[in-house]
Amino acid sequence: MRKQGDFSCFLFLFEMDKNQLRKLMLQKRKGLAPEYVNTASAAILETLIKLSEIEKNSVILSYMPHGNEVDILPLNRWFLGNGKRLCIPRVLNDQEMEAVRVDCLETGLSPGSFGIPEPGRECRAVPVHEVDLILVPGLAFDRHGNRLGHGKGYYDRFLKSHGAYTIGIAYKFQLFDHIPTDIHDVRLDAIVTEAGFYPVTR
Ligand SMILES: Nc1ncnc2c1ncn2[C@@H]1O[C@H](COP(=O)(O)OP(=O)(O)OP(=O)(O)O)[C@@H](O)[C@H]1O
Ligand SMILES: [Mg+2]
Repeated sequence: MRKQGDFSCFLFLFEMDKNQLRKLMLQKRKGLAPEYVNTASAAILETLIKLSEIEKNSVILSYMPHGNEVDILPLNRWFLGNGKRLCIPRVLNDQEMEAVRVDCLETGLSPGSFGIPEPGRECRAVPVHEVDLILVPGLAFDRHGNRLGHGKGYYDRFLKSHGAYTIGIAYKFQLFDHIPTDIHDVRLDAIVTEAGFYPVTR
């Protein structure tokens, strides 16, 4: 179901810079109850699976959830069982990541640079132009498609060279009217939370 509105907003958000917001959102995410993570993640996955953008695209860059991020693992498994080509990010160096094709989530991954499971060196990176849908994690998002990540710029650099459709994956408390941005921040095409699908109007 596509819903409008319902954007959470802190009155003091306008006073905050990126680092302050990052700290706040990390704290908030760390304190989430497992029941909330499970229920919200299930609702988010239910919305995602029905989207035409998922149905019509076949090469999908997803992510491996860590630290109470929206649990997208069941959807990653669903992609593998339903004819999608699943890619997972692999960190190349302190600036860049790449999309790597994965056939098995149980054996194909091991902890990478940030302790996040990533495909081994033997797995093939997919050329940037072949990826047609990207599910993007983050700490905060806004209804203009802006995104705040962990502050390394990996996704911004990756998305800069992309024509793929991009969906931010968020709990509804992570979606604001406005978040602070810089010139290099790449905007997303839509956000999905447990409250619904929010396409970005340009
Ligand atoms: N396209 C780019 N070219 C050069 N530097 C960049 C680019 N994108 C981001 N950076 C640099 O990366 C750093 C972090 O950027 P930013 O604060 O937007 O991270 P983020 O979006 O929260 O992180 P991430 O994308 O890894 O989740 C900044 O110092 C910024 O200058
Ligand atoms: Mg950024």
